[in-house]
Amino acid sequence: MTGRIFLKLLLGLFCLLLLALVAVDYFATRVAKDTYIRNLVEQRADNARVLALALPGSAPLDGEKVREMARASGGRLTVVRSDGRVLADSEADPARMENHRSSARPELLRAFAGQVGWDIRRSATMGIRFLYVAVPGPKDLPGGALRLAVPLAEVDRQVAGIRGRVLVSTALAFLPAIAVAALVARRISRRFAAVMAHAGELARGNFRARLPEAGSSEFGQLARTLNDTAEELEKTLEQLQREHAELEKVERIRKDFVINVSHELRTPLASIQGYTETLMDGALDDQEHNLRFLGIIRRNAERLARLTEDLLTLSRVEQKRQNFEFASHPANELLTEAVDLVRPMAEKSDIRLEMETAPAAAAAWCDGEAVSQILSNLLDNAIKYTPRGGSIAVGAQPAGRFLEVYVRDTGIGIPAEELPRLFERFYRVDKARSRQLGGTGLGLSIVKHLVAAHHGTIRVESRIHEGSTFYFTLPGDESTLNGERLNPEFTAS
Ligand SMILES: Nc1ncnc2c1ncn2[C@@H]1O[C@H](COP(=O)(O)OP(=O)(O)O)[C@@H](O)[C@H]1O
Ligand SMILES: [Mg+2]
Repeated sequence: MTGRIFLKLLLGLFCLLLLALVAVDYFATRVAKDTYIRNLVEQRADNARVLALALPGSAPLDGEKVREMARASGGRLTVVRSDGRVLADSEADPARMENHRSSARPELLRAFAGQVGWDIRRSATMGIRFLYVAVPGPKDLPGGALRLAVPLAEVDRQVAGIRGRVLVSTALAFLPAIAVAALVARRISRRFAAVMAHAGELARGNFRARLPEAGSSEFGQLARTLNDTAEELEKTLEQLQREHAELEKVERIRKDFVINVSHELRTPLASIQGYTETLMDGALDDQEHNLRFLGIIRRNAERLARLTEDLLTLSRVEQKRQNFEFASHPANELLTEAVDLVRPMAEKSDIRLEMETAPAAAAAWCDGEAVSQILSNLLDNAIKYTPRGGSIAVGAQPAGRFLEVYVRDTGIGIPAEELPRLFERFYRVDKARSRQLGGTGLGLSIVKHLVAAHHGTIRVESRIHEGSTFYFTLPGDESTLNGERLNPEFTAS
């Protein structure tokens, strides 16, 4: 590509120089020819005047003498009387020559009139082109004329010589110009090639390519413009890719969710259907089993109810349809209420439940109902996943402009590799165990969204067989809630 642009540029410059050369040749030739002929005319006129002085006009002219004089002057010599009769000629017999007083010989007409005359034309007698110069004279031939003629071939040869020299020197003078032009052409073509290559990269989708932005020339500006464009494109592309990935993720989560929901619903429904049929097929009268079957049906119906309840809650919170009533709540009030709610359950499981009192001034700007839901979910998990004899502690402490609340247990713990997905819908470390304990796998997902609705964050620290601690933050006051951006981490999952 560089080569082609370079050749085109160079060819253009070459044509330009060639045109200049032709013009120089044309004008130089004309000037040289004019000058040369004018000089020649003057010189021949002088010669002719000298010859005119030396020639006797009245006596019959001696042909031999005329030829001698012509030879000495390097041309043809003709003497003409004022009436046009040729008296002598160095090349032809005057007796046979026609009358020379005619408009075909303007140089003679001027000489008859007493002036110097000249003309260039083909000779009727000799057939070649001549320069004719005529002067009045000789002295004793009043009104007559003496004419010298030189073949023009000589003039042409001289002019050709001058022309050749002019051409050679002009061409030589152009050499440095061509060299400079070639350098410029190469420089331009290289930069062009760089720009084209860059454009090619962009076209192929490599928006990371950059041109060197050197200089304030058009190329520098072009490079800057292209780089800016590339940067814009790169940013836009990244943005689109991010959005695309985000959409894909959302879509995947949605599909998973639908599959999960139908799966979760199918098991209890199938169970209810199966036991109902069994009962109707006669088991109703089987005193030994009918109550057990009814119990199973009830448990599964309860399970369905819990699932529906959790799904509704989740969708309400997720779609921000839940109306929160924010107000300032003292931390200890929130904790006491939650602990009182689950105390019977803890006692039943023989688990010590402890509230670590927060500083009296500690408060949260929150929806009391939502926080109660968050805490009961976390406490419910803690009780479920803590073996008998274990202990659970809840507490809160101010953390900057937030209040950090924690629920700590001495339970089974969560393997580190499970932690990243723990807050996803339906994600359970041990599905069978969760189901057996009446879990739906939606609790932590609901918690995460409720915390997000308060612009807070949630995290968990856990060691397997040792226990887990869940931490979440709530805004300390109204200004924190309004000033805080929603945590971008909380999207659809
Ligand atoms: N305190 C905890 N100790 C151990 N595992 C926990 C604890 N809390 C939650 N988990 C794990 O996280 C999973 C998801 O919890 P959650 O969303 O509340 O669902 P569910 O309680 O219905 O099983 C649980 O199934 C369990 O595996
Ligand atoms: Mg739970």
